[in-house]
Amino acid sequence: MNLKTEIPEKFRLYLSGGEFRALFVSDFHAPSDRDWDERLPRALGALLDEAKPDLCVNLGDFISDGEMDSPDRFERYVAAIAEPCETRRIPWCHVPGNHDRESGLPTEVFAAHPHCLSVRGPDSLPGYGTYLLPVYREKGGEEEGPAFHIWLFDSHAGGWPRTFGIPEPSGFRNVTWGFDRDGGVWHAQTRWFWETDRAAENRYGRKIPGIMGLHIPLPEHSLIPRNPSLTGMTGELEESAGISAVNSGLFAAAYERGDISAIVSGHDHINTFAGRYMGIELSEDAGLGYDVYGSDRLRGGRLITLRASDPMHPGSRHVYLKDCPGAADFLFREGRDD
Ligand SMILES: [Fe+2]
Repeated sequence: MNLKTEIPEKFRLYLSGGEFRALFVSDFHAPSDRDWDERLPRALGALLDEAKPDLCVNLGDFISDGEMDSPDRFERYVAAIAEPCETRRIPWCHVPGNHDRESGLPTEVFAAHPHCLSVRGPDSLPGYGTYLLPVYREKGGEEEGPAFHIWLFDSHAGGWPRTFGIPEPSGFRNVTWGFDRDGGVWHAQTRWFWETDRAAENRYGRKIPGIMGLHIPLPEHSLIPRNPSLTGMTGELEESAGISAVNSGLFAAAYERGDISAIVSGHDHINTFAGRYMGIELSEDAGLGYDVYGSDRLRGGRLITLRASDPMHPGSRHVYLKDCPGAADFLFREGRDD
């Protein structure tokens, strides 16, 4: 099998200078019946200029009400939020958030942009937008296999407690603290990760170090702010982590595989925390959107820097918009103090 012909050219990602920088952003929350705040694409551009990523991953919640009132407005919206990456020739991709409905967020509208690497993912999995992006060491070296894997998951929309007959408020005493009713990764996706990761190990005779991104934080994310000193927590918690109500075992699978170093989520708009639990960094990015609740103090994205020299210990920092050159001049809400 020839990986050079197997993978279309635009999907081939490579280390640059022995590193790969992935910037995670989320929670743009555009309205359905009018255009989005014009600061949103400018904020994304300022973040890109500061973080200089090799890939920008959008962790979802594009449209607050699931879909826009016209296909034209949706296409203009995707073009507007693609533009900062497209003009800088930065590859980008996305997963859906709990607010996003598949009918309102067709993958092909994203994928039509030349630098967009989004794919719908296997039909055998629940939802859409669960897929894997390989990062190769260098051009021409594809046959050696990826240097890194970037795993992306649809974490679905609400209704799990309702689906399983748990009333709201549940009154259950043993559910994890702070759980949200919105979505979560399904066990079928956990199995897909396990099997795909093991198949790659068999194919290349080594484990491929990787990171994960998804919209809804895993239940294990909430352990970071609950144990700040034990987990070496950095960043801030301004709202409880909106974790999934049901634990599909994705963290346990990542831990047992032993090749995942970081798991980044969106969903919470005013959290920027990160910490290490069982050797894996769990982090959140703050929301970037201006058409929804948020914080001008925290707005930004999480930058994970994968390094060939130390593949299981990536760099990680939340890039704050307020610290991006020029951003303060035009990006903050007038008179707002939060
Ligand atoms: Fe969300």
